[in-house]
Amino acid sequence: MSLLLSGRWPDAERDQWLSLLRAALPGETWLLSPPGDPGQAAEVEVAIVANPLPGSLNDLPNLRLIQSLWAGVDRLLQDQTMPAVPLARMVDPAMNEAMAQTALWAVLSLHRGFFDLQEQQRAGLWRQPRQLRAAEWRVLVLGLGELGGRVAQTLAVQGYAVSGWSRRAASLVGVDCQQGQAALVPALARADVVVNLLPLTELTQDFFNATSLAAMKRGASLVNLARGAHIVESDLLTALDSGQLSRAVLDVFVHEPLPDGHRFWTHPKVTILPHCAAQTDARSAVAVVAENLRALRAGLPLQHLVQRERGY
Ligand code: NAP
Ligand code: GLV
Repeated sequence: MSLLLSGRWPDAERDQWLSLLRAALPGETWLLSPPGDPGQAAEVEVAIVANPLPGSLNDLPNLRLIQSLWAGVDRLLQDQTMPAVPLARMVDPAMNEAMAQTALWAVLSLHRGFFDLQEQQRAGLWRQPRQLRAAEWRVLVLGLGELGGRVAQTLAVQGYAVSGWSRRAASLVGVDCQQGQAALVPALARADVVVNLLPLTELTQDFFNATSLAAMKRGASLVNLARGAHIVESDLLTALDSGQLSRAVLDVFVHEPLPDGHRFWTHPKVTILPHCAAQTDARSAVAVVAENLRALRAGLPLQHLVQRERGY
């Protein structure tokens, strides 16, 4: 049997993955692109994928597991041709740590006005901002899973007044955990900054639209570290232009790379990151892959399985 490594990445990045995977899983046979030959296709037991092209995993009759190297599986689930075998996603403490760093940087920069100070410097202005304590700054984290949970706790440790919102009840030290639709609008209305770490599903697409942006506290900021399609981009621009929102820190976009000429590029209230809030760290992620492969072969429970019907 063989393992298929498939993704949309530069050759150098693929080669780095392959060499780390070979070291973690010695003796395996690897394929680097979906096989055209039916004999080879019948040999593929597991597909290890990073944002693969739609349709690239069908015609693998003996496939037993799809292991995503990405945490978010929205694009995989949109591929109607994906075989109905177990799908596992990437969960790695190194990724959680990277996400917590990005969220902390964004929240701290908003709280202390550091983005505005960068603009002041460009304008040659010397103006000292008002200094609030962290406890006077309310943060709402949407999604309290692997990433959102770690982010909420990191911010709470820094002294921020942190609330979190998820589908089911959650309990996190130092975090006021809310759940369900009824809790959403009051939570949005209280927060000085909202950090989005929801998965992209049918229920969360266009989550930030004219209605929910209007429900946010006037002058609040939005940090989107999850998926671009959580936001109706034109509604966000309207909210920023009207002063309803003070700033948006955006790591993810409806179209990536963000197209040339998009208004976000030059908007004075938008800070852009190139989808780098928390990249998969191949050095630790290969151990996650290896563990699931061993579990599969030993007939043990697989880790981090996606529930396809709920979309994450
Ligand atoms: P996760 O562990 O599956 O957690 C998802 C959280 O969202 C859970 O708390 C879940 O609630 C909540 N949720 C889901 N649907 C909801 C709904 N309709 N209403 C309210 N809460 C809902 O996911 P994760 O590992 O934290 O990852 C989150 C997302 O981050 C990924 O899907 C991906 O899009 C994004 N991401 C971005 C980057 C980047 O670099 N920008 C990197 C990695 C991942 P329950 O606990 O009740 O199920
Ligand atoms: C990155 O966005 C991921 O989902 O891992």
